[in-house]
Amino acid sequence: MNAIHVTNLTKVFRVMQKEPGMGGAVKALFVPKYVPKVAVDQVSFDVQTGEMVGYIGLNGAGKSTTIKMLSGILVPTSGEVQVLGRDPYRERVANAREIGVVFGQRTQMWWDLAFIESLNLIGRIYDIQPARYKELLDRFAKELEINELLNIPIRNMSLGQRMRAELVATLIHEPRVTYLDEPTIGLDLIVKERIREFIKEENHNSGNTIILTTHDLGDIEELCSRVIIIDKGKLIYDGSINKIKARFGKVREVIFEVPHPPEILDLPAGAEILSQEANRLILRFDKSVITASQVVSTIMNQIEVNDFSLSEPNLATVIKHIYKGELNGQED
Ligand SMILES: Nc1ncnc2c1ncn2[C@@H]1O[C@H](COP(=O)(O)OP(=O)(O)O)[C@@H](O)[C@H]1O
Ligand SMILES: [Mg+2]
Repeated sequence: MNAIHVTNLTKVFRVMQKEPGMGGAVKALFVPKYVPKVAVDQVSFDVQTGEMVGYIGLNGAGKSTTIKMLSGILVPTSGEVQVLGRDPYRERVANAREIGVVFGQRTQMWWDLAFIESLNLIGRIYDIQPARYKELLDRFAKELEINELLNIPIRNMSLGQRMRAELVATLIHEPRVTYLDEPTIGLDLIVKERIREFIKEENHNSGNTIILTTHDLGDIEELCSRVIIIDKGKLIYDGSINKIKARFGKVREVIFEVPHPPEILDLPAGAEILSQEANRLILRFDKSVITASQVVSTIMNQIEVNDFSLSEPNLATVIKHIYKGELNGQED
């Protein structure tokens, strides 16, 4: 069964156009000129009950705008959204009971209240049964180690602490559909790992349907088998992460800065020369055959190297290849 059904979803903002300089700013005050900004452009997809989908795209791609339309915060300009069979905007109240949203860059809690007071309020607003509330709070406290945070106001928390608190605050009313909008943004690797682990468990144990937006491919690799990629508001890929991993996950590049171009080079198995210019040698290697340090040491045993660096696959590269037709969306 589909938990989420989206057809040709579109959001156009009207943004005030400013002319450059003071004169322009003053003029805009009196004769504002609006230009349309298409943030989400004819996006269609379905998400099944219990599925966890990665919704990824670069900054400004339209991820948060999509999430806001799915949660009923924004009304679509055109197209259709159904979440658990409802129109999230027209049936905001009923929708809100069954969904949860975490915005990585914003809090939904009361800034000055101690975390536990915020939670208690949420418990009352959602009318959570006290025994159930306690049971869930105990479980989350253990899994996310939030016991020492309960008496701290949100405004005094570090980003990682706040993110853990947000997850608890969102999941305590047991939403059937949860949107996590960049939940790991700005976090260090250890906190990131813990949060990823928690999200994975939660999806597994509760059957919660989850949309996770991120520009961090690492989040997706660990959590989602299906990804939807959007770019400039348009859906450009909807398919398995494995296809992306197979194409981009195994191959890495090492760039060597060399004083003299090598004449002959003995390459280790799994590595090949990608390009060779006067003072720069780029090798490509297969991570499943050889490690980066093996490649580096083999080369450094043979030639003089001033410096080297390792490239990681990033979302921008993946998107570029999608446009070149190297990955076809809408299939598995
Ligand atoms: N309230 C708004 N008014 C005008 N433009 C907006 C508004 N919200 C978002 N945008 C624009 O829409 C585009 C998509 O934004 P957003 O959905 O926040 O992207 P993402 O979450 O993928 O970074 C951006 O160009 C952004 O500047
Ligand atoms: Mg965003």
